[in-house]
Amino acid sequence: MSSMRMASFIWEWIDLKNHERRGAEAVVKLLHDENKVVKIRPQKKYRAEELDRKIRKERTRTEARLMEKMKRFVNLPKITYVDEKNFTIEMELLDGKLVKELGETIDEVIQQVGEQVGKLHAAGVAHNDLTTSNMIWKDDEIFLIDFGLAARSKTEGFATDLKVLRECMVATHKTTEDTWQRFVEGYKSGNPEWELVLKRLEKVSSRGRYKVKGSSVK
Ligand SMILES: Nc1ncnc2c1ncn2[C@@H]1O[C@H](COP(=O)(O)OP(=O)(O)OP(=O)(O)O)[C@@H](O)[C@H]1O
Ligand SMILES: [Mg+2]
Repeated sequence: MSSMRMASFIWEWIDLKNHERRGAEAVVKLLHDENKVVKIRPQKKYRAEELDRKIRKERTRTEARLMEKMKRFVNLPKITYVDEKNFTIEMELLDGKLVKELGETIDEVIQQVGEQVGKLHAAGVAHNDLTTSNMIWKDDEIFLIDFGLAARSKTEGFATDLKVLRECMVATHKTTEDTWQRFVEGYKSGNPEWELVLKRLEKVSSRGRYKVKGSSVK
């Protein structure tokens, strides 16, 4: 894309509060009239400048590359433009609802979450920030977003994804074992290696202070 186009889409950003989302690291803005969003990683002043540029560039690159590769396997927003130098990714707007915003009513969607996560893992990639803030429910389907920390991985990485998600489900959505089992059903249908991962999840969960009381994987 030319710098003209780049400049024009910066000017077209709508700055109204509900058209802008701030995640931990990025700002995501709605691109006027185009059904697209722009995700940009602004400078973090607490990091040394050179290191900061390196991290932002690397995460932008990883996110764009992995999303491109994973689109055959899981539901993702289509990427339409990447500008590593400006730490920017332009992608399809998923005009749906963040799974986090479903609150205590995630039972209906959780099996599909499991299936999508299973497929991602079966394709050899761990998300590495698997919370319900990084999933969108649109037209009766689950889409995964936010691949800035994602990486090629194996059983340990996949089990850690599940641990993080299970903790998020309990803390944010007040879920019970029933809901977890629905997730597991979906996960099994997405990942043929599910048994290995669930076994490892039990090991990973019994380590350290994050153990989820009373939960077990059947
Ligand atoms: N394609 C999209 N369509 C609609 N909304 C999106 C899209 N991508 C991101 N969002 C919204 O913007 C928020 C922040 O995006 P994202 O999770 O990718 O950034 P982040 O958490 O800051 O990223 P990172 O951790 O990679 O720096 C999301 O929680 C979601 O609400
Ligand atoms: Mg996020």
